[in-house]
Amino acid sequence: MNPWHEDYKRRYAQLKENGKSFFPHTVFKDVCVALLVLTVLFALAYYRPAELEPLADPTDTHYNPRPEWYFLFLFQALKFFPGNLEAVAAILLPGLGVLLLMGVPFLDRGPKRHPFDRPLWTGLGLAGIAGFAALTWAGVRSPLTNPTEEADPQVAAGRRLYDQMSCAYCHKIGGKGGAVGPALDKVAGDETEEWLTRHFKDPQSVTPGSAMPKMNLLDDEVKILVAYMKSMHAEEPFTKAAPKIFADNCAACHKLGKEGGEAGPDLSFIGTARDKAFIKKYVEDPSTSKPDSAMPAFKGQLTDVQIEDVARYLSSQGR
Ligand code: HEC
Ligand code: HEC
Repeated sequence: MNPWHEDYKRRYAQLKENGKSFFPHTVFKDVCVALLVLTVLFALAYYRPAELEPLADPTDTHYNPRPEWYFLFLFQALKFFPGNLEAVAAILLPGLGVLLLMGVPFLDRGPKRHPFDRPLWTGLGLAGIAGFAALTWAGVRSPLTNPTEEADPQVAAGRRLYDQMSCAYCHKIGGKGGAVGPALDKVAGDETEEWLTRHFKDPQSVTPGSAMPKMNLLDDEVKILVAYMKSMHAEEPFTKAAPKIFADNCAACHKLGKEGGEAGPDLSFIGTARDKAFIKKYVEDPSTSKPDSAMPAFKGQLTDVQIEDVARYLSSQGR
């Protein structure tokens, strides 16, 4: 037998002779620590409860699925493996890792216990930890795949009401739903708010003979449904020239982001308050929307195409 075994046995016998018994001494310590951990857990659960996210919504293209931080390394590792190889990263590699961990007592048979005396195994362990850390960090910094949306509470409420009222029985959004009425993500955003409001109060009044039932909605309900419908308008792309048109003609009076003048309102979030149609009309001739407007009319100054372009550009600001 190895000499270190003898050593170990002698020390063990000695410790056993003058040591304290497992019960109650060690058990007491265990119970104390377990109680402490439980208390902390309870306190955390009570004061900082994990929050539930909204119900999964297949029509919400702004959602960014992300795991908790302790799974980010796996999330990141998956990105190195294309589709059909995912199982390698998700099951095979972690499985091998765990097998290796279980094997350590059999593989590392050296008598020395100090980490510095076992460079290979200590090194492997450290490399593993460094790998986790690096993958986790890369996962934290990896760009979101979907654009984040300023959560507009009206739109969110409208979306919930849409679900509750089973509008999907007749309408499609994001390709899901019935076909009695039109696909709302294609058409509803283009209607004006007034039209939508009247339509919701009484569909027949704007579309004679409409098959859409009158639903006796409260004014508040109409408002959030309209907000939801308007939020779906198809993004109309602006050209590369739009920012320049703005810089040349508007930035003297308007801020956009950090830059611009103070004479007119900051337009950084205009897209959350005004739609393209409003902006276009305003730019063409402000006095039609605001009789005492201090802003010059741009019809004639800019071509229709340019005004359309800058209106699209602005209506996307802050969205
Ligand atoms: C029984 C079927 C039915 C139900 C339920 C229904 N709709 Fe409709 N909807 C229609 C039909 C048919 C039309 C097309 C005729 C019209 O414009 O009124 C329509 C039109 C619309 C339009 C106008 C689209 C456009 O721009 O032309 C909107 C917006 C709309 N529905 C929203 C809703 C919402 C929101 C709900 C739920 C609160 C709902 N609908 C429930 C059948 C339905
Ligand atoms: C001489 C200064 C000036 C210039 C140049 C100017 N604006 Fe304005 N703008 C204003 C002022 C002041 C207001 C505030 C309301 C009013 O008096 O019309 C305003 C209001 C607006 C609004 C309405 C904001 C709201 O929500 O009610 C929009 C949109 C707008 N401007 C867009 C533009 C665009 C686009 C251009 C360039 C093509 C431009 N403005 C050029 C001064 C200017």
